[in-house]
Amino acid sequence: MGLGKRTAGAGRARYRPGLWRVGQVIIPGGEPDGPHDAVPLAVPLLDARNLRIEVTRGQRAAAVDLVRGLLTRILAASPAGRVRLVVYDPHELGAGLAGFAPLRGSGVAEATITSRTRLEERLAELSTEVGRITVERLAGHFDSLRDREDAGRGRAEPWTVLVLLGEPRLYDEGARALSAVAAQGPACGVNVISIVQRPLPEPGGAGDLDDEEGPPDPDETDLGFDEETDPVATPLPNSVVFTAVELLAQRPQWRDARSGQWRTSLTGLLAVELDEAPPTELVTNVSRQVADAARREASRPPGIAALLPPVLWESDSAGGVTVPVATGVDGPVRLTFDDDTVHALVGGQAGAGKSTLLLDMVYGIAARYAPDQVRFHLLDFKEGLEFAQFAGGPSDPFYLPHADTVGIESDREFGVAVLRAVRAEMRRRSVAMRAIGARDLRGLRTADRSSAWPRIIVVVDEFQVMLTPMDEIAREGVALLEVLARQGRAYGVHLLLASQTLSGIDALDSTAGKRGSIFGQFALRVALRTSISESRVLLSTANEAAGALAGVGEAIVNRRNGHPAGNEHVRVVYPDPAVLAGLRDRLATLTARSLPTAPPPRVFVGHAPAILDDNPVYRALDGRPAPLAVESAPAAAREQLAAADGGDEPPATMGPAGLADPYALVGVPVDLAPAAVGVRLAASPGRHLAVLGPLRREAVGMVQAAAASVAEQVAPGGLVVEIVAAEPMAVGAAEILASRIRRVGHPVRVVDVTGLRAVLAAAADDTRAREEAALAGDVGPPPPMRLVVIFAIDAGRAALEARDPTSRRAGLDDLRTITRRGPAQRVHLIGWWRGVSRMSEDLGPVNRDDIAAWAAAGVPGSELFALAGHRPVAGGTTANRAVLFDRHAQSEPRTVVPFAPLVRG
Ligand SMILES: Nc1ncnc2c1ncn2[C@@H]1O[C@H](COP(=O)(O)OP(=O)(O)OP(=O)(O)O)[C@@H](O)[C@H]1O
Ligand SMILES: [Mg+2]
Repeated sequence: MGLGKRTAGAGRARYRPGLWRVGQVIIPGGEPDGPHDAVPLAVPLLDARNLRIEVTRGQRAAAVDLVRGLLTRILAASPAGRVRLVVYDPHELGAGLAGFAPLRGSGVAEATITSRTRLEERLAELSTEVGRITVERLAGHFDSLRDREDAGRGRAEPWTVLVLLGEPRLYDEGARALSAVAAQGPACGVNVISIVQRPLPEPGGAGDLDDEEGPPDPDETDLGFDEETDPVATPLPNSVVFTAVELLAQRPQWRDARSGQWRTSLTGLLAVELDEAPPTELVTNVSRQVADAARREASRPPGIAALLPPVLWESDSAGGVTVPVATGVDGPVRLTFDDDTVHALVGGQAGAGKSTLLLDMVYGIAARYAPDQVRFHLLDFKEGLEFAQFAGGPSDPFYLPHADTVGIESDREFGVAVLRAVRAEMRRRSVAMRAIGARDLRGLRTADRSSAWPRIIVVVDEFQVMLTPMDEIAREGVALLEVLARQGRAYGVHLLLASQTLSGIDALDSTAGKRGSIFGQFALRVALRTSISESRVLLSTANEAAGALAGVGEAIVNRRNGHPAGNEHVRVVYPDPAVLAGLRDRLATLTARSLPTAPPPRVFVGHAPAILDDNPVYRALDGRPAPLAVESAPAAAREQLAAADGGDEPPATMGPAGLADPYALVGVPVDLAPAAVGVRLAASPGRHLAVLGPLRREAVGMVQAAAASVAEQVAPGGLVVEIVAAEPMAVGAAEILASRIRRVGHPVRVVDVTGLRAVLAAAADDTRAREEAALAGDVGPPPPMRLVVIFAIDAGRAALEARDPTSRRAGLDDLRTITRRGPAQRVHLIGWWRGVSRMSEDLGPVNRDDIAAWAAAGVPGSELFALAGHRPVAGGTTANRAVLFDRHAQSEPRTVVPFAPLVRG
């Protein structure tokens, strides 16, 4: 038998099933047993009718053969995966159509149904599906999916063939569901094939229809059995009926029919002979091929290429931002951030494709909107490095010109800081809007053209990490999310949050207060594959649709707060790496041409060490020997340094030597710009830096960075440095620092613990001498800044306590002279104590506040409470983190990534 041309995978939308050959119609000659003609018989099925085959027990095998042949043809002729089988086989438990076994697991055939209960469930599902298609797809405008397709609309629903190899005894609900599916199914791509077994009619019994008048109506499906009273008969509307002639033998017009012939509702009085059943190997072969093709087809997602615009940056974001990221029944599916769908939530289990969707969105938006139309903050709280591709770096210089911030393995604090910055921007917009009487972003953009007022999209992958545990950080995060969620619409600020668990949503729910939870602000939901229970949480209580999704990238898009009526089944496009590489090239070229000064994003990589020499603030110092007065500094450095002051401190003042007060950098803050923070060594009390804690790497790095950055800001002749390595292990670090400072042109002396006493004595003497000179009204050139750098000062305790035999002064006295009176004379200390209590003891109870700024690494917050002016201190206890506090900067203790130790060379 010819199977027709395989069209698997081709012309998805154009496939139109036709008629299916099953046998031939016998055209009788004059003599009952004489020669006769035959014409092929083909039946309508998909998009047309159901099929009911009525047999005696003896013909059941022939009926199964008919079904087997028919299904083989259908499968062979339809695009793989477009026709799905649901088989009910209570008698042979699946053996009836065993040849189709390879289809299982490929999505083409479900496990054979053998129990009536399961069949009833499946019928209920099918009838729901038919109902949904009728309401949503046909929607009163079309009679059938075929009709709809003919009107030029897409068709995504597969065809489903429900094969009932045995007669289910269905009552009530089940019977109603089957008859509803049979009645409306064919319009919706669902067709039923049913084999019905009948007892042989007794001559003169109920089946004796001798008195029937005229030929039967070909469309009349009742062939003599009263379906109303027969307990096992379920009516099957819309059917083509095949009846084995044996069942009709009592009717006069069929008395001559030969056994094995059939009467059909299509052919009236003409007898039909069926084709031979296909050989088993053929069935198996076709099944195998279809299964393979279906699997291939299912794993071949649509690519992003088709959804990218031919010309970049042509869209305007005044009314919203819209991006196609998926394909659905009607073609591309667009997600939109605007006044109706302000914020979006993406959910789905691990590996379901959440991050991929976010990438699709970011690239799609970046391709359509210029960087002055849309700004991104991209935060990823997982080890995944998805957002690294937007950050620019040594291995790949590309950065997304739209990105203000990129957080990779973000710290929770960093995430909160980004939200804080966005809130500050909202305030700025609110002021601007009030000033000109604008009521929303569109109004602002029309009235004030001084800025483009871009839309701001905050993308947070695995946002639940930022909100768990429910501590201070999480509470601030939730509070900020709440403000952004509730007020974002007016200011063009949009949230796109993704999570694989419910906990993040629980955290959002914790905002539930007078005004209800902010969860409701996320009108746009995208649910990738997940459990039924999570589907209910992510979408809405009655919405389990995401629990039924089969594959990676399959999703329910819902723009109505998760209401089931808003479900759209879509396939998220795959961001082919090659296509993205091309897009990145185009973006880079366009950026270079039209925005040559676009700054790269502020990048925060959670685990990455902070490298002083790579730091933009440090680099802006640029090894300049000239005094770094703020007024004369290069613009970049000026901005960076002004920003580094955080606006909390007065601008850098001119010191006695005509120098700006140098800034001792210790690390990179775990928040937004500036890229480095530290302590300003001004000529006023308390301006020293204590580095505290047992973490050697962190402490050494901070001491070195602080001293090295000061050295970079002072012209030769303006600085002398003494470095003490009070414990042997610090000698190497001291020497590396010394050589760096020497290179800038400052005199440096390095000593070990034996020199500690002398260094302190000299600095204390110098402090007193400078005080006297000042009192005497000395008008000579100001002396250079004197910087005393001490590593592990607590290791020199013995030297500090010993009294000088002649002066009777102890090292501690000199230390306290320096800390108390030094700064006014430009004598400053950068000292590392390995324990907080050691510093307190060394400074003494009265002089504890003489060091106003400290950076601690590996010290529990409880030990820092008093030092921080009785503020709680969180963080800074893990590796690669520290807390910086400056009493004079009037800000909270802030977490920083300490600069890594300098390397030799
Ligand atoms: N739309 C898609 N089409 C094809 N493949 C996809 C699609 N989305 C994701 N994938 C593939 O599935 C894998 C997991 O995707 P992704 O990392 O986006 O999932 P996730 O939900 O973010 O997972 P996790 O919870 O582990 O972060 C990736 O290898 C990706 O290539
Ligand atoms: Mg992910």
